[in-house]
Amino acid sequence: MSLNNFEFYNPTRIVFGKDTIKRLNDLIPETAKVLIIIGGGSVRKNGTLTEVEEALNPRQYEIFEGIEPNPIFETCMKAVEKIKEGKFDFALGVGGGSVMDATKFIAAAVMYSGNCWEIVESKGKNIQHVIPFGFLATLPATGSEMNKNSVISRRETADKIGIANPLLYPIFSILDPTKTMTLPKHQIANGLADSFVHVTEQYITYDIHASVQDRFAEGLLLTLIEEGTETFKHPEEYQSRANFVWAATLALNGLLATGVPTDWATHMIGHELTILYGIDHGRSLAIILPALLNEMREDKKSKLLQYGRRVWGLKGSDENAIIDQAIEKTREFFESLGIKTHLRDYTQDDHVVEKVLEQLRRHHLTALGERKNITLEVSRRILQASL
Ligand code: NZQ
Ligand code: ZN
Repeated sequence: MSLNNFEFYNPTRIVFGKDTIKRLNDLIPETAKVLIIIGGGSVRKNGTLTEVEEALNPRQYEIFEGIEPNPIFETCMKAVEKIKEGKFDFALGVGGGSVMDATKFIAAAVMYSGNCWEIVESKGKNIQHVIPFGFLATLPATGSEMNKNSVISRRETADKIGIANPLLYPIFSILDPTKTMTLPKHQIANGLADSFVHVTEQYITYDIHASVQDRFAEGLLLTLIEEGTETFKHPEEYQSRANFVWAATLALNGLLATGVPTDWATHMIGHELTILYGIDHGRSLAIILPALLNEMREDKKSKLLQYGRRVWGLKGSDENAIIDQAIEKTREFFESLGIKTHLRDYTQDDHVVEKVLEQLRRHHLTALGERKNITLEVSRRILQASL
């Protein structure tokens, strides 16, 4: 086996570093009428929004506040109305993955003529136009700042669904690591777990001799372990944080997935845990990943061994022992960040396994993983092992 054929396309301009918010003045057209989209107010409290407003002057702008974590369709639609009524022609998302994902969806929904939930149902395939949008990212985690994905939720129908379309790449993203300094520790941990699992979902599959991708993945995992842990322990330090911010972006900007098989089963099961039980995205992944790696250890054998040896430095010839230790090290890494890795730590619902399986069935997520062999029965075993 060898590297699969691929096309790689990523048009997003990244502006990285300290004091970069003022670059908004060059990045957004002078004549633009801007809707700034924010979450629950963190960027207002920490002064980031004021800096953004200063940089936008003298452009016309207004603020839409209230995108919730795991952004909700109905809230996004309120922003769509505001854009249409106010004739805004540029959307600027200032916040974490939820604000960025919401902004992407809003930019597409403004230009969509039917019922906008159809955008989600089509997984983004029916997006034909978007209004221009860019980001100031304040939470290293999702990679939304440099990818074409967005995840939108609807509470009453218990849906949390990913959409993707090349039109959803932001025009630019400003990554100023100093603007992430006010993140509480549990959000740093969430971001580390999320970006770590983004890498593993594109790396711990089966071996096709993709040396570049493998070395990139291993470099990112080692960076997340080393610099991420340092950031978690010393949140005030810029050096480690800067590396963590950049690693999180590269973990899901399309590069790692080029020409290689990808898994994504942990994400799909994790999304159901979030919509059913409100578990933070990063934590949902930390619950599922160790159980999934163990369940799929035969299929993933060669990459699990490579992961254990190259990322965790494990030695010896007992392959089963190396795989056991690699999975255990992964769990320990999450736990070292204060993330509990068992489902029982988050819910006492006796029916949790059945409920998640029903969601997977309803969402047609019945053939997951790089070999499409994670059926509902396999998901059941993974969920039971994650209890
Ligand atoms: O809402 P505010 O007040 O801004 O507070 C947020 C929120 O409460 C806070 N926060 C963000 N930046 C901060 C800050 N607090 C202090 N200082 C700052 N600098 O952090 C909380 C969580 O924010 P959120 O945006 O929800 O977190 P995250 O970036 O982890 O995004 C999670 C969402 O992204 C989706 C997830 O499913 C989830 O809905 N994902 C998106 C992906 C993509 N677009 O490619 C891929 C991922 O796998 C993921 O599924
Ligand atoms: Zn994720």
